Amino acid sequence: MRAVDIIMKKREGERLGRDELVFFVNGYLAGEIPDYQMSALLMAVYFRGMSPEETASLTRIMRDSGEVIDLSAVRGTKIDKHSTGGVGDKVSLVLAPLAASCGLKVPMMAGRGLGHTGGTLDKCSSIPGFSVRMQPERLKKALAEVGYAIIGQSEDMVPADRLMYALRDVTATVESVPLITASILSKKCAEGSDGFVFDVKTGSGAFMKTMEEAEILAGSLCETGRGLGKKVTAVITDMDEPLGYTVGNFCEVRETCECLQGRGPDDVTELAIGLTSHMLVMGGVCSSLEEAEARCREKLENGAAWAAFLKHVAFQGGDVRVIEDPEKGPAAVYSRPLLCPDEGYIGRIDAYKTGLAACMLGAGRLKKDDDVDPACGIVFRKKRGDTVSKGEEIAMLMSNSEAAMKEAGPLLSAAVTVSKDPVSAGMRMLKVIGGA
Ligand code: URA
Repeated sequence: MRAVDIIMKKREGERLGRDELVFFVNGYLAGEIPDYQMSALLMAVYFRGMSPEETASLTRIMRDSGEVIDLSAVRGTKIDKHSTGGVGDKVSLVLAPLAASCGLKVPMMAGRGLGHTGGTLDKCSSIPGFSVRMQPERLKKALAEVGYAIIGQSEDMVPADRLMYALRDVTATVESVPLITASILSKKCAEGSDGFVFDVKTGSGAFMKTMEEAEILAGSLCETGRGLGKKVTAVITDMDEPLGYTVGNFCEVRETCECLQGRGPDDVTELAIGLTSHMLVMGGVCSSLEEAEARCREKLENGAAWAAFLKHVAFQGGDVRVIEDPEKGPAAVYSRPLLCPDEGYIGRIDAYKTGLAACMLGAGRLKKDDDVDPACGIVFRKKRGDTVSKGEEIAMLMSNSEAAMKEAGPLLSAAVTVSKDPVSAGMRMLKVIGGA
């Protein structure tokens, strides 16, 4: 077999067999197939796509490229949630303790932010002392004692995805349904959960910009995941506007604390409850979404979800004092308000431009090895549909670099549109594919 023939075959739109995919992925991992040939294959897949069988084979090969955690010894149903990436998306931080307090086990293997999107691991790491590294035995202990854990991929897990994702990021081949499906599901299947709820984002801040694209990705995740023996539900949600009022790392942890104490923004709270409810029905903890929603509200109101979060932070080495009093957390040296140029209603806050502005401030990575600064980010005072007057503060930018502040200001300003006419806030959960 020759790599060039396989690339050519896919370039011509033909289907690749399992043995050809094994040859290519394993050859790449062994260093026998160079980056430029893998890049060419990824681009051919980007343009030509893959059949469901090819996508399933690729997912299995990538999953089996490293360690697969066996959680069968952990009692209880293990259900996880994964988002396809967004801006201000702290839902995992609220949802995991909520689901755990309702009785599920949540072994959440999360990712770092890349490009304009934020990452759950970066948010967790903004809590002083918090460690996202965990060996499988400790993960089992966390599930037994706390009910959930949020961890990063170890060196030994799904190395094929780690290498291929980094290459896709710099070869403009991220936005491909089969490649996203194989990337997400190979990681999720390696973590040992019984089922997953996928939050498939659509809108300017998402990889899938239109509803049609999001539906295709949701369908692919459901079909491939079920073919691998997992329960899968996909919920398509809006990512045209950032979620909640904060975009950054520690500022999002602060907003998470507010949500878990019943004082959070409606969109984050409702999305967390909605997605957790699908997990509870999937895991057999509740028999209907209505029952599940009521259970979630009870656990938020009676402090059980908040208590689970505190226990989790302590278990993973985080400083609980900073969670109990976020004023003690990381703070930026510079802050500057974005003032409203006109009076009217907030018509749009573009999630993509906001994400880029937050990255520039220091909250995200523009290159994969960049460090993120836990204290940087944006706190909005307004959301879509709110009334505003001229000169009123719309958002506060925070950074440790004055130069970054100067660059990010105009970008954030371009993200906000003021309308003369009333604008409705819009729905977050748009469509459910599969599931209850
Ligand atoms: N998240 C992933 O893990 N992989 C992708 O390809 C896109 C989003």
